[in-house]
Amino acid sequence: MRVYLDNAATTPLDKEVFDAMAPYMLEHFGNPSSIHGHGREVRAAIEKARKTIANLLHTSPAEIFFTSGGTEADNTAIVCTIRALGIKHAITSRLEHHAVLHTLQMLEKKGELSLSYLRHNAQGVLDLEHLEELLAQNPQTLVSVMHANNEIGNLNDIEAIGTICKQHNAVFHADTVQTMGHYRHDLQKLNANFIVGSAHKFHGPKGVGFLYADAGIKVQPLIHGGSQERNMRGGTENVYGIIGLAKALEIAYRDMAEHQQHIQGLKDRLIHKLKEQVEGLTFNGLSAEADKSLYTVLSVSLPPSDITEMLLFSLDINKISASGGSACSSGANAGSHVLEALGIDPNRGNIRFSFSKYNTPEEIDYVAAKLAQLYKKVPA
Ligand SMILES: Cc1ncc(COP(=O)(O)O)c(C=O)c1O
Repeated sequence: MRVYLDNAATTPLDKEVFDAMAPYMLEHFGNPSSIHGHGREVRAAIEKARKTIANLLHTSPAEIFFTSGGTEADNTAIVCTIRALGIKHAITSRLEHHAVLHTLQMLEKKGELSLSYLRHNAQGVLDLEHLEELLAQNPQTLVSVMHANNEIGNLNDIEAIGTICKQHNAVFHADTVQTMGHYRHDLQKLNANFIVGSAHKFHGPKGVGFLYADAGIKVQPLIHGGSQERNMRGGTENVYGIIGLAKALEIAYRDMAEHQQHIQGLKDRLIHKLKEQVEGLTFNGLSAEADKSLYTVLSVSLPPSDITEMLLFSLDINKISASGGSACSSGANAGSHVLEALGIDPNRGNIRFSFSKYNTPEEIDYVAAKLAQLYKKVPA
């Protein structure tokens, strides 16, 4: 058995998505900026894809911009807000993805903004009273907070954060990479100026994503060049990627309830088996709490042991792909900034299991049994 439980890193492409993309690799190869027939048919397909995404998110196609993925969409939202709107202060958390953190820290280093970090507790729950305090002190602010944490799975209340931002006239960017395609986003209700998506996180192709940018905000391009994406993003479009992105989101919305139930079932099964079979095991953040964490992610913390350093390698030898990280205290090597910010004991082993619609209960049982064996706590 070979088990893939690293779906927060990337997901396998859905065959239905591939079938939608293939004609745009082989037959419809025109450049969408060309005005002849070969170009026009591809332009029409891109605009149809844009409309599909806009309809699913309850917004207008004019507010959807295609990018090379989540990182570029996050960068565009942040850099443009700071540079185009002249905002000089940003609020974020230490638990954000590097696509957000490193971008904000780069701007801070260059003296283009001052940066405040939201307080959070040991489980990674953000302090929204602190957000209100910071906003009261800093009227012109960009708030960048993720919807769900990619390492520990915590869901942040972006509806509440959006409302607070609106009350204070702050710009709100929500990194929705881990929730896009897994939860419904209704931009008629959500007070966010920017949200993002990355196709490879929901069974679409790699290297393509999108930015939703509120039409009320006049942003400028991050990538300069041609007039593609209504002058917002230069460069010939990743045509088959865009077709795949829209198809993948369409399928994700179509089958969401069924997949959510299946995946939550797998997660609950793993929680139950691991609790039963591995002594001293705990869960990071809100990972084990059903309504407060991504149903696709379970972050497990294992007691210190002589195999801690070799944990992922040991799983890999057993044909289990998962990811992990430690709360590296020295800062010398690539530890997890999220686990470190939560103050997790660096001697514990941490594994992030992340699930998809393709995983099975048999795979879960296999993984739980292998982990129990590694920790030599298997009941007789
Ligand atoms: C929360 C979050 N933001 C941004 C990204 C970056 O997305 P991409 O891989 O499409 O650049 C990721 C990818 O892991 C993520 O989990």
